[in-house]
Amino acid sequence: MKKITVIYPGSFDPPTNGHLDLIERGSKIFDQLVVAILRNPEKAPLFGLPERLLMLEAMTEEFKNVRVDTFDGLTVDYAVKINAHAVLRGIRAISDYEYELQMALMNRKLQPALETVFMMPAEKYSYLSSRLVREVAQLGGSVEDLVPPMVEQRLREKLDPAVKLGHARESKTRKR
Ligand code: PNS
Repeated sequence: MKKITVIYPGSFDPPTNGHLDLIERGSKIFDQLVVAILRNPEKAPLFGLPERLLMLEAMTEEFKNVRVDTFDGLTVDYAVKINAHAVLRGIRAISDYEYELQMALMNRKLQPALETVFMMPAEKYSYLSSRLVREVAQLGGSVEDLVPPMVEQRLREKLDPAVKLGHARESKTRKR
């Protein structure tokens, strides 16, 4: 029987619980799900590509049919390269629809055989975005419950290097 591979492309800067929710839902209905992080030279991300890869790999470790990869160029070209059958995207609210529809139709124009599948994350994540997580964290607000604890920790370290320094000191004293 044909095995369906789907790619879930995005920036994931940083990955959130909304992304994780969608990955979990997708992993239940597709045979293979590839989380594909876009390497975008035009954007200056908060988290470098290796960091995002690491976080997503740790977040999805328990899903045996999920792997994480990076790509550049067109999503459709990457999808063809890995023999994916469809692109998975999340729709949180009606406001997402217009942009997602445009992208889906452009991708179809570029690669007619490639389908786009939309899934809805849990309602509790309907207002959640990486951009808002970055903004709230940068302004000192709590992002608990919005991102996995490991991402929260990395955000703290990124935005307040003293936190990382504190950890390094702590582990040094413990080693002594
Ligand atoms: O997480 P994001 O930023 O909403 O993801 C957007 C993404 C990466 C899916 C989109 O920008 C994309 O596919 N970029 C790759 C370049 C491309 O294929 N552009 C044409 C899209 S119609």
